[in-house]
Amino acid sequence: MFAKGSLTLIPTLNIYFGMQDIRVSFQQCFNRAATLAVQSPGRINLIGEHTDYNHGFVLPAAIDKCVEVAMAKRTDGTIHMHALDLNETVVLQAKALQPHPITWVNYIIGVVAQAQRYLSSPHDIDNGFDICLQGDIPIGAGLSSSAAVECAVLFALNEMYALCLNKMQMALMTQQSEHEFAGVKCGIMDMYASLHGKKDQVMLLDCASLASTYYPLVLKGYQIVLLDTQIKHELASSEYNTRRTECEKGVHLIQQKYPNVKTLRDASAPQVEECLKSNATLKGTKVYERCKYVVDEIQRVQIAVKDLLVGDMAAFGQKMFATHQGLSELYEVSCPELDILVNAVTNNPNVLGARMMGGGFGGCTINIIKETEVDTIINAVSSLYTQKTKRLLRVYPVQIEQGTHIK
Ligand code: GLA
Repeated sequence: MFAKGSLTLIPTLNIYFGMQDIRVSFQQCFNRAATLAVQSPGRINLIGEHTDYNHGFVLPAAIDKCVEVAMAKRTDGTIHMHALDLNETVVLQAKALQPHPITWVNYIIGVVAQAQRYLSSPHDIDNGFDICLQGDIPIGAGLSSSAAVECAVLFALNEMYALCLNKMQMALMTQQSEHEFAGVKCGIMDMYASLHGKKDQVMLLDCASLASTYYPLVLKGYQIVLLDTQIKHELASSEYNTRRTECEKGVHLIQQKYPNVKTLRDASAPQVEECLKSNATLKGTKVYERCKYVVDEIQRVQIAVKDLLVGDMAAFGQKMFATHQGLSELYEVSCPELDILVNAVTNNPNVLGARMMGGGFGGCTINIIKETEVDTIINAVSSLYTQKTKRLLRVYPVQIEQGTHIK
């Protein structure tokens, strides 16, 4: 499966140079003051992968890596966009926006188009604005840099034009923007987490009802460390959409016998076995394996949250390893580089849990590592990774931070 996909090196923004004062940058760029500046974070997800679009549970948190935008209105019907990290400027007419060949531009205009659709009649927003943006979320690392841009832009538009959107509406609109302008049929997790994050807390999000519960993450001498493969297999977005379709196919077949099953959230493990395992129409497909993983994972998140509540982080960590195994063997969204990183820390008594994180096919693993052992473990894993892949490992210890806010 992976032999077909080519590899691309992931560009990283501003990692070495740090962030500039975004208001000062705006002034330098547009020769006038910004009306407002907004910061929106990337996210981690402790457990619950590929469950959001199946109406299951996820356990994400916003992190201390973010995107910042500064903005001011224009009156001539154009949007002037400047990406500080890339030193690229793009100017477009504010009306009748269509997907653009430059990726980062879509994250801005996609949400403008959503806001215009929401407003449904001509609005001040059609007169355009100036925007500059920067970020320190590594791109393509599975930390939702795109969602962070979308959330920052919509939050800023909401403030500047007094659109009266709440954060839930913003999450749904930015998700729609990703579907329409980035072409990825993503779930709600990334946007929800970026917008709604709270410092030092993880959120259990029920992706069916969109209700969330916050829990403090007490790690007692452990640290969350992300290990970045620094690669992204090009089939990531096409395979993501294929996984979604495979899950829908499974639901459709289960539904024929159990009409109450509308999503994999409603399906039980025995129903998956009964309806999908030996189903002749599924011969040659992986629908059974995909659905089995998702139903198990939805169950696993709920038990993992109980571990968290009683402070049993060892049991929690074991579930992270189980998630990785499911993602690698049944859902097949891991890749050799991610597996190397997880295998390198499996059975290490100083690592409570590790797994690939996000959509997969590259990006990061999330690890819960004993604080005093972080350096030793990182050194050992880095040399192993380089030896096996001829690539450098990038490492990000992360803290849990608040969600999208005015800066
Ligand atoms: C990507 C998507 C999310 C989610 C994860 C996998 O990050 O944007 O909606 O599906 O993959 O859990």
